[in-house]
Amino acid sequence: MNYHPGWPAVLTEGPVMLRPHRRGDARAWSEVRRANERWLQPWEPLPTQPWHDANSPAVFRALLRDLRRGARQGTAMPFAVCYEDRFVGSLTLGNIVRRAFCSAYAGYWVDGRVAGHGVIPTALALVVDHAFQHGALHRIEVNIRPENTPSRRVVEKLGFREESYHQNYLHIGGAWRDHIGYAVTLEDVEAEGGLLARWRRLRGSSG
Ligand SMILES: CC(C)(COP(=O)(O)OP(=O)(O)OC[C@H]1O[C@@H](n2cnc3c(N)ncnc32)[C@H](O)[C@@H]1OP(=O)(O)O)[C@@H](O)C(=O)NCCC(=O)NCCS
Repeated sequence: MNYHPGWPAVLTEGPVMLRPHRRGDARAWSEVRRANERWLQPWEPLPTQPWHDANSPAVFRALLRDLRRGARQGTAMPFAVCYEDRFVGSLTLGNIVRRAFCSAYAGYWVDGRVAGHGVIPTALALVVDHAFQHGALHRIEVNIRPENTPSRRVVEKLGFREESYHQNYLHIGGAWRDHIGYAVTLEDVEAEGGLLARWRRLRGSSG
């Protein structure tokens, strides 16, 4: 058994719930992904098959095996994101590295039909706090293409620090794309009672 504090977990805030993916998510995952081709494709690696085939329930089951392997090895926390009890997306902490680094990358997507409701900032705040409080991690990083304004807004609203510019960093949408590196460390949020507490305050003060 590998060292993997904080996994598995279920995290909730209002209508947003995160939990490990299940085999029973296959149909919902496939429906959401197939309905969101134009929404998701620009921000992902090019699939090797047509979008419809690359997002079948069978593909989800293969993906689930990969996600669970990463979780078993202690290198990933792959969460399904639910909103009002429906499967709407994913948020994965990956590339977990421990020893002197204790850091991970966060990657996420959500159904375009629920975009703009703060689902992913809420989910990311929940996961960051969980990673710091129960996952023995110290730093969470998000890498985003400069032109991905919605995703940059997520981390900017939460107060992640813009740290770096990576040229030709990830192979997305058929080419090597530049990415901006954002990060948050435990010290950035602990005095405020965590990132979710900060996000609640910000949402409360804007509404
Ligand atoms: C990036 C993403 C996860 C944001 O999730 P979300 O839950 O909608 O986040 P928010 O509700 O905080 O909205 C973030 C920004 O999206 C934009 N937005 C809001 N509603 C939108 C809509 N219906 N359509 C397009 N963009 C919208 C706004 O710029 C918003 O910022 P604002 O709050 O300052 O107005 C989502 O847009 C997405 O899944 N995009 C496609 C995949 C992707 O880019 N993944 C991340 C790769 S790094």
